[in-house]
Order: sequence, then C-alpha cells, then structure tokens
Amino acid sequence: MWNPPLFFKIAFFCLPMVWFSASASPLPTIHDGLVKAHQNEAFHPAAVAAFTRLQREFGTPLYIYDRQIIDEQAECLKEAFSSCFPKLHIFYAVKANTNLSLIRLLRKHGFGAEVISGGEILTARKLKVPGSEIMFTSSSKSPWEIELAIKEGAVLNVDSLDELNQVEVAASRARKTARISFRVNPGVDPHTIHQINTGISESKFGLHLENGIAFHAYSRALKLPHVKIIGAHCHIGSQITEPEGYRLTAEKMLEFAFELKEKLGIRLEFIDLGGGIGIPYQDDQTVMTPMELAQTLKPVWNQGIERLGYEPTLWIEPGRFFVAPAGFLLTRVNSVKTTPVKTFVNIDAGFNTLVRPVMYQAYHRVRVVGRRENVVKLDIAGDVCETGDIFAADRMLPKPRADDLVVILDAGAYGFSMASEYNARPLPAEVLVNGDEVTVIRKRGSNEDLFRNQLAPY
Ligand code: LLP
Repeated sequence: MWNPPLFFKIAFFCLPMVWFSASASPLPTIHDGLVKAHQNEAFHPAAVAAFTRLQREFGTPLYIYDRQIIDEQAECLKEAFSSCFPKLHIFYAVKANTNLSLIRLLRKHGFGAEVISGGEILTARKLKVPGSEIMFTSSSKSPWEIELAIKEGAVLNVDSLDELNQVEVAASRARKTARISFRVNPGVDPHTIHQINTGISESKFGLHLENGIAFHAYSRALKLPHVKIIGAHCHIGSQITEPEGYRLTAEKMLEFAFELKEKLGIRLEFIDLGGGIGIPYQDDQTVMTPMELAQTLKPVWNQGIERLGYEPTLWIEPGRFFVAPAGFLLTRVNSVKTTPVKTFVNIDAGFNTLVRPVMYQAYHRVRVVGRRENVVKLDIAGDVCETGDIFAADRMLPKPRADDLVVILDAGAYGFSMASEYNARPLPAEVLVNGDEVTVIRKRGSNEDLFRNQLAPY
C-alpha cells in the first residue's frame, strides 16, 4: 500500500484546520486596515487590501474618515468632561471639517455648532441645528452675517465695540433681541504654534481683560435695549497639548465673572473656554488627555463658582480633537527621484490638498503602503509648482516606487476645509468608512469645476 510522504500527511490533517480557523475569524475590514496604518504597519495585508480597494474604487488623492474613530473621540471627551462638570454643553467647531456627514455624526453625540461665518451658520441650519445651539464666533463679521445670526437666534460672540453697535442696530431693525457674549482675550500663552496662538495679548482676537477693556464692553452692552448678555467666551489657541494654559484661563474667566456680578450685577448663563484640545501627531508622542484637562480644571472651576455664588454652564468647543485622528489622506506616488542632495517621492497631492505642513510646518505621519524594507531618508513632495510644497522632509521611510500608495495620517481636521484648487487641480473626494462599508460623502471635483463662475468675455 502507498505510504504518503510525511508532508502529505501533515497537509491532509492540517489544511482543513487552517481553512476552518480562517473562515471562523472574520476577514479584516477597511477599518482594520486604517488601524494598521496608525500602528505603523501599513505593510500589513489588511492595510494593503484596504488602501488598494479605496484607490481602485474612489481614486486619489482621497480623504478617508473612519467613523469609529470619530465616535470614540466624541465619547472620550464627553465622558471626561461630564464626569467633572454636571452643567456642560459641548460644541463642535465646524471649521475643522465642514462636511455635512461629519457634522451630522457629531450632532448625534448631542454637540452644538461653533461657527465663524455666514456659510457655517447656513451649514449648521441645513442640518437643523437650532439657533440656540449655534455659537457665532468671528473677529470680523459682515452685516449680512450679523443679520443672519440674529434671525436664526444664534449666540453672537462679539469681538469689538464697533461690532457691539452693529449688533444693536441690526437687532433693533429686525425687532429682535440679540443674545450675545463677548470674546474675552485673557492674555494667556498656551505654548502652541504661533499662527494658532489666539489668547495672547498681541493676537487680533477678543476684548482684552487688560486695562478693563472687556469689562467696559459688558457695561456698555448693559445699556443697549436690543442685546441680552448671556455669556463670556475665550479661546486661547489650537493644538494645545498641556493643561496649564487652560487652568490659568479658567481662573481668569471665573475671576472676571465675579467682577461682572459684583460691579454690574451680571449673571452669566455660560462660560465658554473655547476649543484647542491637541492630539498626538507623532508616533510615541504623548499629549494631555481630555480627562487630565477636565481634572485640572475641576478644582479651579469649583472654587470659582463657590465664590461666584452660582454655576454657569461650562461650554467647550473643540474641532480638531474629534476629527483629526479619523482622517487619512490617501495619495499615489507619481515618481521617485534622487538628486545630488535628496530623494524626492512625488505624490499626487500638494499643499492645495493639505496645507498644514507648509503653512505651520506641522508634522504629519506618513506611511508607505505595502513596504517595510529599504528604509531610507526621503522627502515627500507635493505636486504644486513651488519649492516649498513638501509634506515631510528627511523622513526615514521604506523607499516606494512609482504607482505605490502613500498615506498621510491625522488629516481629518483643517485638511479638506483648507483645500483649494490652486494649480488648477480639482478638489479631492471624501469618503466615510464604517467597518467595511464605504460611503462617498463628497464627490471628487471635476475639471469642469475649474471654470465654474468664470466669465470670459474677451
Ligand atoms: N473656537 C474658536 C473660536 C476657534 O477659533 C477655533 C479654531 C476652535 C474653537 C477650534 O479649535 P480646535 O479645537 O480645532 O483646535 N488651521 C489650523 C487651526 C486653526 C484653528 C482656528 N480656530 C491648523 O490646521 O492647525
């Protein structure tokens, strides 16, 4: 009788087991692939399968958002703050990403909308966010924006005495009472990137606590018949990674609320401490967690409200925290070139697609899909016709080849919302991933878009 070799025997017994165990554990989803990219394992088959499928179905450059990450970020912040502040209202700063589907997702978590333009008010209203849950904060508001905010019943966060007068006139004309707060500049430095450091004295934002400027604005508003003061607001900056600046700010704001009560008899419905909660943009970077921030603020808040004799609702309005880590910018390598000085990987996106690296010298992690060998020093270069269009300089990465895929992480905030058609390149598409399901939430711009609204009479 034929005695099969040992290899056949093993295969005979083991193959069905392998098949069974493979069929018992579900195939990796697109979400799994995105997680692998985060874990610096973009070479993993799950990541390769996910990004290849996304490229095949939707093309590049492509903004990909992972719904699970957005939900986790929202829950994490909600849990941390609601465990410390019983009177709390969270707003999503929609400027971070104005895609209707993402705003709707965050709305499901009960968040209001912090907006900075007439267009963002209309965006929030399109999603039926009631006016009472819209906070309109901008240092420069046009007449139609003020009129719209009053009509919709949004809170107008007033940034100057000029603007206060304009709000009074517009409200009186509309025969309404405008609900207002003032943006207070507390003069606090939270140690972040200069261009997004907003609470320092030299910034253009707010009415300074310094020299009694903010106090004067409140006393003036009290005399106006068509405005009702309901709160005090501040926002000290963005991508803040340590709690100290917030602690100082909360102290100053509560002290100010006390002064308003003692000297002017004003009782605030809310104190808004702004947005700005940072995220880790680098591997192994640790930043403050929402729980650490909430716990730092809690004793200051409790002390402040005890002295105040009443408790305003705490408002916060983060943007980046909810959406940045959920976003991936998928790009294709057009070419790889070694010059006498550097090796450039030329991808099919540029600072018109994601401006943060160029505008703020911001660091974004980059992953090369499907490769792990041949790690060399590279520059990831954009396709904009400018020397400065570099996404990442001198990074140690597996050397890709033309046609490979490169992913830029943490691109969900201030990515698409700051994108442009510079160099006549249409805007990218956006898709939302839910497990293994992918939905287009913004169609790719077309070449025809480049000519929309243009008239060429000559
Ligand atoms: N509230 C106000 C009044 C703001 O001005 C901002 C952001 C936020 C809330 C939300 O800040 P977040 O939580 O997202 O940090 N383009 C820059 C960031 C600009 C932030 C502008 N204001 C970047 O890409 O880093």
